[in-house]
Amino acid sequence: MTITFRGSTAVVTGASSGIGVVVAARLAARGADLLLVARREDRLTELAQRLRDDHGVRTTVVAADLATPDGVTAVVEAARATGSPVGTLVNNAGFGTYGDLVTEDPDRLGTEIDLNVRALTTLTRVLLPDLLAHGSGAVVNVASTAAFQPVPRMAVYGATKAYVLSLTEALSVELRGSGVHAITLCPGPTRTEFFDVVGTEDAAVGRFETPDQVADTLFRALDRRRPPATVVSGRANAAAAALAGMLPRRIVLAVSARLTSGRPRGAVSVSP
Ligand SMILES: NC(=O)c1ccc[n+]([C@@H]2O[C@H](COP(=O)([O-])OP(=O)(O)OC[C@H]3O[C@@H](n4cnc5c(N)ncnc54)[C@H](OP(=O)(O)O)[C@@H]3O)[C@@H](O)[C@H]2O)c1
Repeated sequence: MTITFRGSTAVVTGASSGIGVVVAARLAARGADLLLVARREDRLTELAQRLRDDHGVRTTVVAADLATPDGVTAVVEAARATGSPVGTLVNNAGFGTYGDLVTEDPDRLGTEIDLNVRALTTLTRVLLPDLLAHGSGAVVNVASTAAFQPVPRMAVYGATKAYVLSLTEALSVELRGSGVHAITLCPGPTRTEFFDVVGTEDAAVGRFETPDQVADTLFRALDRRRPPATVVSGRANAAAAALAGMLPRRIVLAVSARLTSGRPRGAVSVSP
């Protein structure tokens, strides 16, 4: 049976920009009430108004920093206060950092792990009983094509996304027969604000997609009678991800190193 979104709330993190905006709009078009989360409240409020006007759904905005435990708690409390059951959780908020590990700001790396890993895990764990009680829905965790191989100069980002992939695939098995599906969405390079935050496109490998193309991939998967545990957006990205799973790791690492090197080797400059 395909998932019914009408009559339940979809929690979408990272809904102020990029992929999150489009996924939230698609869910509203299917009748889901929305709980929109990010730090930039003005953007969330504007989106909430538009989705209410266009689709007649109920919307709630939570301006929260998900890299903090208080931010995560605020989302859980707001989700339970919406008045309709939580049926869908889209853990989409995330960001990346670029540079040799030794040059990166340790606090920023900590925030990256807190957002990409800790918030996603805690929201999934804490809201899962609500989804299971509702009995039909999905946990969509946004990973990346960076999840399929180590990514030199985006080592922490790649590692966080490998975590998301592993966690979500394991969860998809645990949820079999429950009516709730766990799906890992793996976009490749996508035209959003992501690379503005990263500060460079040096690590973007492959052709850019639009957020709409990524959302198409997700909803094609969600509409299947048995949604897959993982979907990669873009045919070439999917082929590369499949290949990475078949080749010896040392080959995969060598190819990744070549594709992501934005500057000559040996040009590392270290600041304390
Ligand atoms: N774009 C790509 O090439 C690409 C490729 C693969 C995977 N992805 C993944 O796709 C997801 C969405 O990214 P995007 O491409 O749509 O990038 P984006 O346009 O930069 O959107 C990122 C979203 O995350 C939110 N966010 C960032 N830090 C946050 C925090 N501390 N607390 C709460 N929300 C926070 C941002 O909102 P605020 O700034 O308002 O908080 C924004 O809504 C991410 O997980 C990313 O890793 C992107």
